Amino acid sequence: MDILLSEAQIQERVRQLGRRIEAEYHGRPLTIVAVLTGSLVFLADLIRQIGLPLRVALLQASSYKGAVSTAGPLLLNEAFVPDVAGRDVLLLDDILDTGHTLSALVRQMTERGARSVRTVVLLRKLGRQEVHLEPDYCGFTIPDAFVVGYGLDYADDYRHLPYVAILPGSHPPPGAGG
Ligand code: IMP
Ligand code: MG
Repeated sequence: MDILLSEAQIQERVRQLGRRIEAEYHGRPLTIVAVLTGSLVFLADLIRQIGLPLRVALLQASSYKGAVSTAGPLLLNEAFVPDVAGRDVLLLDDILDTGHTLSALVRQMTERGARSVRTVVLLRKLGRQEVHLEPDYCGFTIPDAFVVGYGLDYADDYRHLPYVAILPGSHPPPGAGG
């Protein structure tokens, strides 16, 4: 597979993001809310670069996509939804693709009384966004290709790779998500 982002590149960028988040949230009650499952590796690395008291919560969200790329409503697993009332929430995901997942979650967190809601993504895919959302923190902008590794999967495989690679000859599987 073609490596798009090496382990060293990712680690260096995650360190930089951690520094920025640490500086900007200093003295505020930070809650990082990560979207399962693709964000797990990024989450684990990023929180160890933020020298602040913080809470971590995990969310399970899925948007059932139709035959083409029209996203259906976002389904949230209520069992996972943390109490965010009065907290400064940083929503974390592996990749910003169409933007439907994160923009729906920003609304949800606001409705649940978060004091502020920001977003952090490791990757942002060029030319794919259907919903306007400017991530507050972004690791890398990448071309429109299907990528795996560092948490990102193809049919639940490849999440454990320490780098991000382009899956050869692949089209995104219908309803890819998570
Ligand atoms: P969005 O709602 O279209 O922005 O969906 C983002 C979700 O789709 C991510 O959290 C990933 O789980 C998944 N996804 C999008 N592009 C890729 C990719 O290239 N590889 C693996 N998963 C992807
Ligand atoms: Mg995901």
